[in-house]
Amino acid sequence: MKVAILGGTGPFGRSLATRLVAEDVEVVIGSRDPERARAVAAEIGCIGLRNEAALAGMDLAVLAVNADAATATAHAVRDWLRSPLLSVASELEFAGGTARPRADTRALAERISQIVDVPVVAGLHSLAAGKLAREKPDEDVLVCGNDREAKELALRLAALLVSGRAIDAGPLSVARALEGMTAVIVNVNRAYKAHAGIRLTGIG
Ligand SMILES: NC(=O)c1ccc[n+]([C@@H]2O[C@H](COP(=O)([O-])OP(=O)(O)OC[C@H]3O[C@@H](n4cnc5c(N)ncnc54)[C@H](OP(=O)(O)O)[C@@H]3O)[C@@H](O)[C@H]2O)c1
Repeated sequence: MKVAILGGTGPFGRSLATRLVAEDVEVVIGSRDPERARAVAAEIGCIGLRNEAALAGMDLAVLAVNADAATATAHAVRDWLRSPLLSVASELEFAGGTARPRADTRALAERISQIVDVPVVAGLHSLAAGKLAREKPDEDVLVCGNDREAKELALRLAALLVSGRAIDAGPLSVARALEGMTAVIVNVNRAYKAHAGIRLTGIG
């Protein structure tokens, strides 16, 4: 599998790339700045390019830019996108020491799917960059989307990242719940001084 990670210079993209390279996945780190992409990629042992160039010949692109930049980046790269796009971003707001989902009624991933001409899937929101960098986290990972092939691809990628299961969570509209779950995890981590992940029980 060939995977481009747009905004792969951030903590999440770096951790994802590190884990995927360890699993023999061909990874290209994307950035707005090709020099930054190359420097980060050299540390990880993969290739680094400008976001647009990173998309050539890929099986899957991961949109791992800062959540506030996700829709603008989708606009910026839409003409270069040929593969399905995996959105991992959660838009959160913080008030009174707690996190909560933003009030928008549509998931960020659904809004991104209106911008690009390729299938959009969403997932990996509950995977903390810090844990992913160190080892395969002992937790499950959830992916949703409307396009069957794109979702299967994203589930294959997700299965490489955790020692738990990669779980099909349903259609893209479910992304609103997956993105919102990040607020739950952030609040649990704060309250319990923990590094929480997700485990679904009762699946055969
Ligand atoms: N951190 C986690 O544990 C975690 C877990 C699950 C999901 N996520 C999601 O993964 C994504 C990345 O998380 P992160 O913590 O790595 O984020 P981040 O460090 O804030 O941003 C990642 C990259 O986004 C790019 N970027 C920042 N501002 C931009 C802008 N205005 N326009 C275009 N690109 C911009 C930067 O890359 P360049 O400057 O090199 O272009 C930056 O290195 C987020 O959407 C987050 O919701 C994070």
